[in-house]
Amino acid sequence: MPAATDILDISPVVPVVVLDDTTHAVPLAQALQRGGIHTIEVTLRTPVALEAIERITGEVEGISVGAGTITAPGQAKEAARAGASYLVTPGSTDRLLDEVADTGLPALPGISTVSEALRLAERGHRALKFFPAEPSGGVPYLKALASPLPDLSFCPTGGITPDNAGNYLALPNVRCVGGTWLAPRDALAKGDWGHVEALARQAVSLG
Ligand code: 3PG
Repeated sequence: MPAATDILDISPVVPVVVLDDTTHAVPLAQALQRGGIHTIEVTLRTPVALEAIERITGEVEGISVGAGTITAPGQAKEAARAGASYLVTPGSTDRLLDEVADTGLPALPGISTVSEALRLAERGHRALKFFPAEPSGGVPYLKALASPLPDLSFCPTGGITPDNAGNYLALPNVRCVGGTWLAPRDALAKGDWGHVEALARQAVSLG
């Protein structure tokens, strides 16, 4: 099993996806892979998310499937049971962190302040999600964390676009960024997998 810090190095851009239809899961993952992205974070924001994780892990080889938006009791365990290979939380409560740790899976717990980052460092985390990145201070904020918190690496998400991703990726404490722009809902609804593949290809070139 990879370490949480390794998750950050799979792809410069992690597609954060919201799936409404399980039949989109496999073709979406395959389109991302054709575009050069070998990870996908399926958010637990829709009723089909767990089944989507199961389908991708069962049917698509060579892709690392994360479960994102873990916010409620029991979700970490359910995601692990569905086959997720890593877990992502937008914020970090003790209960959530304990449940994530109980699964044994690598995780990117979310923070948006220095104190939250320090609390997670105390618990042994070195790879963190910075969320919501743009409203929380964006590039200047993360840049300011690099010197006092040199052991921590971040995956910023929330407001990241192809236009600002490069500025984040240039920071020494950012190893990848995440965003929903790679899997637009209208492209999924239309089955426009060529568009998703093109977006993935463009995202890879940002790294
Ligand atoms: C996340 O959970 O990381 C965010 O919802 C990503 O938000 P975005 O739509 O701004 O990329």
